[in-house]
Amino acid sequence: MKIVIAGAGQAAASLAARLRALDANVEIVVIGEEPVAPYQRPPLSKGYLLGEMPLDRLTLRADEWWQENRIELRKAERVLAIDPSAREIETTRGRERYDALALTLGAAARRLPAAMGGEREGVHVVRSLADIDALAPELRPGRRLVVVGGGYIGLEAAAVARKLGLEVTVVEAGPRILGRVASEPMADRIRALQQGHGVDIVELAGVSELAGAARVEAVHLTDGRELPCDLAICGIGVLPETALAGEAGLALDNGIAVDAFGRTSDPAIWAAGDCASFPHEGRRLRLESVGNAIDMAEAVAANILGAGKPYIPRPWFWSDQFDAKLQIAGLATGADHEVVREGEGGHGASVWSFAGPRLLCVEALNDARAYMVGKRLIDAGRSADPAAVADPATDLKALMR
Ligand code: APR
Repeated sequence: MKIVIAGAGQAAASLAARLRALDANVEIVVIGEEPVAPYQRPPLSKGYLLGEMPLDRLTLRADEWWQENRIELRKAERVLAIDPSAREIETTRGRERYDALALTLGAAARRLPAAMGGEREGVHVVRSLADIDALAPELRPGRRLVVVGGGYIGLEAAAVARKLGLEVTVVEAGPRILGRVASEPMADRIRALQQGHGVDIVELAGVSELAGAARVEAVHLTDGRELPCDLAICGIGVLPETALAGEAGLALDNGIAVDAFGRTSDPAIWAAGDCASFPHEGRRLRLESVGNAIDMAEAVAANILGAGKPYIPRPWFWSDQFDAKLQIAGLATGADHEVVREGEGGHGASVWSFAGPRLLCVEALNDARAYMVGKRLIDAGRSADPAAVADPATDLKALMR
């Protein structure tokens, strides 16, 4: 049996490793367009951008590991088309037959259109190693940076740039930063953290243009304001890589649509990670996180080999900004109230989001204990009494009994 994995990021590495662990004999080929072996993305907007982490620590598996595990890793090769009826893919180097094909194609950073100056020199995104290699040399003390987008990417990049001595303004189109991914009380704390370190945050501010001659010189806002800058970063979200799957006639729905087992609408084609949307509690979910890339890829690997076990996500996320660590367990979608709990000894805080009596999500800022307890409860499908959570006298561990 020959399994071809298209895309060579975190999900691909986890999928290949699990396939090999489960089966010593299947033929495994991983094809990725980047010139480097699969690497971790989260440090790109954190330690790696700051220059505190070397490239070899970013790489997920050393070259020898791929050889020892008899996994053919093909770098700098792009998949151009899928031919489901022939069970073949076409790549920049030729055609490749498969018995099973796994799509781990990830997502691409959204850019502002060229008509808005999104392609000007000095406008960066933060998604791939190549993006960081272009951006890092630009982060020089005293320069003015405008970050477009107040999600985790934008805020993490802002924190790194500020640490490196730049003047930083974050421009968020929505009514508040982290609108998609964090509760309001947590966003309030993150805003205060950023401002406390000297980052300017402008919310409810639409960008009309990244203006300049060849190079960006100012960010123009729709209300007429102009923010002069030496460079800009767009952290305005990602788009799942669906083009290949769409052209091959596979079902799409906010990503490559798979069933609970990770199978696409073609029985020989599977998908995992940022590019894939899967059914979950009566809706379709697509998660952009390392945790999901790993867990879903491992579940799909087992299912390609016939395990027949549905993938059940246990969402978790984290963000590092300045000296603060935010950890999140669960998904707050559908929450109807939240409770804020101050951390022990005045350190840190956590926000617990509920839908009725059900605990959905815990966001913990510098409070590893709250995160740990919250994650265990959520993963076990258990809840907690909101009043007990809010009471600083409650021992968190008692919530688990
Ligand atoms: N101008 C200003 N802000 C904008 C614009 C715009 N034109 N368009 C979008 N935004 C804002 C959104 O309102 C949102 O708050 O940009 C923010 C983008 O946040 P996310 O969608 O969370 O995306 P991002 O921070 O780019 O993260 C992308 O990287 O870290 C991973 O897991 C993360 O998968 C996610 C990905």
